[in-house]
Amino acid sequence: MRIPPHPFADLSHHRYRRSSSGTSNLAATVQSEEVDFGGGAAKAAAEDHIPVLLREVLHTLIQSDSGVYVDGTYGRGGHCRSMLARLASDAQMIGLDRDPEAVAAAQGLVQADSRFSIFHGRFSQLADVLSDAGVVGGAQGILLDIGVSSPQLDDASRGFSFNADGPLDMRMDPTEGISAAEWLNVAAEEDIAKVIFIHGEERNSRRIAKNIVAARPLTTTLELADIVEACVPRNRNNMGKHPATKTFQAIRIFINEEDRELREGLQHAFAALAVGGRLAVISFHSLEDRQVKHVFRGLSRPPSMPRRLPVRHTEQGITARLIGKSMKAQSDELATNPRARSATLRVIERIC
Ligand SMILES: C[S@@+](CC[C@H](N)C(=O)[O-])C[C@H]1O[C@@H](n2cnc3c(N)ncnc32)[C@H](O)[C@@H]1O
Repeated sequence: MRIPPHPFADLSHHRYRRSSSGTSNLAATVQSEEVDFGGGAAKAAAEDHIPVLLREVLHTLIQSDSGVYVDGTYGRGGHCRSMLARLASDAQMIGLDRDPEAVAAAQGLVQADSRFSIFHGRFSQLADVLSDAGVVGGAQGILLDIGVSSPQLDDASRGFSFNADGPLDMRMDPTEGISAAEWLNVAAEEDIAKVIFIHGEERNSRRIAKNIVAARPLTTTLELADIVEACVPRNRNNMGKHPATKTFQAIRIFINEEDRELREGLQHAFAALAVGGRLAVISFHSLEDRQVKHVFRGLSRPPSMPRRLPVRHTEQGITARLIGKSMKAQSDELATNPRARSATLRVIERIC
């Protein structure tokens, strides 16, 4: 089944926004002798979002305490701060996020740590960001912790929540593209059904799309949640799961072009690694994890060839090796952060 053309299909090729001064619009670095990783404003900001699989990320991603590291999904900087705490004074950390609120929240760390700078943009634009940051020779480590952050989900005014009423927006970057309401109010019923089926794996997609079209115009998240709830029977085996979970996920993925971002982001991030550098990707649902697994396999496995041929890795087209298997949160983490239960981490290392 083909995904219908996206109403703003060219956006991911736009350059990330820059200020007239020639530096990234919110990027800055300020000198500081010492960083307070444990307290103050930095800690308050980090508490808005508990970083998932942190132990595993630190263990697998940081192989050297110097060089360039990239957090391509800064969020509230939970992973980023902990990585900085492990790095030496000559290391460099580039942060990136498409959400202007995340970039604004990073300003405290920019001021506190001269090794850190923040850029506003998408990780599919990583090559431009790194080139503007003056990075030559590739990165030692890149983290992509994809999906939405807790502050985005918890703030009803962002339009991601089916539990609290707010404008039906769902854009991670509200300064570009169109909102979920704008799309749902004009899209063809068949296209809405396809998006909900493909990105949400929702079996009731046709009925939901029909009822959305009948109820137009929609303006709020609870209007949409109520429509979906009336179409989807509660899952007897999982009564805690809201019936609108899959539909909201699907529309959010479509509105933010998350599948294309991931596809292009993985390519750009891998290409930006130095030899020996590692890319760590945390995904939150099986569709994304499948995509990551597929790309990592392609990079680390030779195409089928007659056995015993005397060919080197490079001649076989292998450019990477997998670092372990996929990793899930352990019970101690799940006890303190239930949102970690659906997270999967995969790590790959560039070998040539
Ligand atoms: C799960 S949160 C990251 C949380 C972060 N690791 C932390 O510890 O605070 C995902 C973040 O990635 C951002 N994001 C999602 N897709 C993006 C993309 N394609 N490019 C840049 N940022 C993206 C979202 O705006 C959100 O802030």
